[in-house]
Amino acid sequence: MTDPTDRANPQWGGRFAGGPAAIMQTINASIGFDRRLWRQDIRGSLAHAAMLAKSGIISVEDEHAIAGGLEAIAREIEEGRFPFDEALEDIHMNIEARLTERIGEAGKRLHTGRSRNDQVATDFRLWVRDAIDGIDAQLADLMRALAGRAAEHAADPMPGFTHLQAAQPVTFGHHLLAYVEMSARDRLRLADCRRRLNECPLGAAALAGTSFPIDPAATAAALGFDRPCANSLDAVSDRDFALEFLAAAAIAAMHLSRFAEELVIWCSPPFRFVALSDAFTTGSSIMPQKRNPDAAELVRAKGGRVAGALVSLLTVLKGLPLAYGKDMQEDKEPVFDAADAWGLALAATAGMVRDMRPDLARMRAFAGAGYATATDLADWLVRVRRLPFRQAHHVTGRLVAAAEARGVDLDRLTLEEMQAIEPGITAEVVSVLTVDASVASRRHIGGTAPENVARAAARWLEALA
Ligand code: ARG
Repeated sequence: MTDPTDRANPQWGGRFAGGPAAIMQTINASIGFDRRLWRQDIRGSLAHAAMLAKSGIISVEDEHAIAGGLEAIAREIEEGRFPFDEALEDIHMNIEARLTERIGEAGKRLHTGRSRNDQVATDFRLWVRDAIDGIDAQLADLMRALAGRAAEHAADPMPGFTHLQAAQPVTFGHHLLAYVEMSARDRLRLADCRRRLNECPLGAAALAGTSFPIDPAATAAALGFDRPCANSLDAVSDRDFALEFLAAAAIAAMHLSRFAEELVIWCSPPFRFVALSDAFTTGSSIMPQKRNPDAAELVRAKGGRVAGALVSLLTVLKGLPLAYGKDMQEDKEPVFDAADAWGLALAATAGMVRDMRPDLARMRAFAGAGYATATDLADWLVRVRRLPFRQAHHVTGRLVAAAEARGVDLDRLTLEEMQAIEPGITAEVVSVLTVDASVASRRHIGGTAPENVARAAARWLEALA
C-alpha cells in the first residue's frame, strides 16, 4: 500500500491526506494553456526574488541561486526540454517545483510574501502588455500597407456605396484611407488599455497583502510597471485589463472583418474590382475554374471569434465576489485565442493589401454608372441656377427618370431633353457630370479629391516611417 499523502500536491498538500480524483486534476489543471505565460512568470519571479533579497527577506546567496535556477529553467523551456506536469496544475507551480528540484532549499523560499493570486495577475498583465506591443506593431504595418496603396491610387475613381448601391464616385485611395483611420483608432485604444493596465499586482499576495516588509514599488519598477496597484483586493481580482484588451480586439477585428468582406465582394466575378494572386487564394477540389478568397473569408470570420472571446470573459467575471475565484483561471484562453486570431487576421490583411491588383478601368466604369453623379447635377442647379436644394433634388430626380426611360447615363441626355424638364440648364452642366469632376470637387477636409487623398496618404506614410 502506498501512503496516500504521497499523492498530495507538494506545493499545497500539507493538510491533505490523499490526492485528487483524476477528473479533479483534469478540470483543475491550467498547464495545458497557461504554459504560454512562462516568460512572464520567470520575469516576475526574478523581480520578486531580487526585491526579497534587497529588502533582507531572503539572503543574497539564495537570490543568486534562484536567479541562476530560473535562467536554466528558461533555457529548458526554450529548448523544449522542460518536464511539464499536469499534477502540478499550472505554470507557476511547474516552474517553482522544478526550481526546487534544481537548487534545493532556496527554491522553497521564492514564494515568500507572494501568492499565486498576485503572481498570476502579474504574469497575465505582462503577457497582455507584450501582446499589445506586438499587435500595435502589426497595426502600424497594416497602416503602412494601406497608405502605400492609397498613395498609388489617390486619383483612381471607384463607386462609393451606401446600402451597397452605387452612391457617389470616390477614389480607391480614399476608400483605403478610411481603414487607415480605423486602424489608427485601434492603436489608440490599445495604448489607452496599456496605460491603465500598467500597474503591478505583486505584493497583494493572496488578497490582503503580506506581513513581510516588501517593496512593491521596486518590483513594479523592475517589471516596467508605472506603479504598484493601490488596493490588494483589486490587484488580485481585477481583469479589466484583459477585458479592455478584448474590447479593443473585438472592435479592431470587426474593422478587419468589414474590409475582408469588401475584398470578398470586390473579388467576386460579377464585381471583379480587385484580384488576389495565387498567394492569397485557393482553388476548389471540384470546380476547376474557382479562385476563392479564403484568407479574406477567414479574416471576416475572426471578427466573430474575437467578439465571442470578449463576451465569454465578461460572462465569466460577472457576479464574481471579491477577491480571487478559480473561475478566473478561465480568463486566459479567450485572451490567448483572441490575440492569436487578431495577429493572424492582421498579417493576412496586410498581405492581401500588398497583393491585391485593382482593375482600374472597371472600377472607373462603374464609378459613373447608376447615375452616381446625380448629386453633382443637383449641386450645380443650386450653385449656378440658384435653385433651393430640395427643388434641385426633385428636378434631378426627374432627369434621372428621363435618362432611365431612355436607358442612358445622365450625360447622354441631350440639352433639349434636359431643358424640357429644367429650362435653366445649359451645356455647361456636362462638365460636372463626369466622375473625375465629381471627385475633384470634394476638396474640403475629409473629402475624396485626389489632391486630398495624395496629401493624407503621404502624411500617414511619413508618420509611420
Ligand atoms: N492557475 C491559477 C489561475 O490561472 C493560478 C492561481 C491559483 N490560485 C489559487 N488560489 N488556487 O488563476
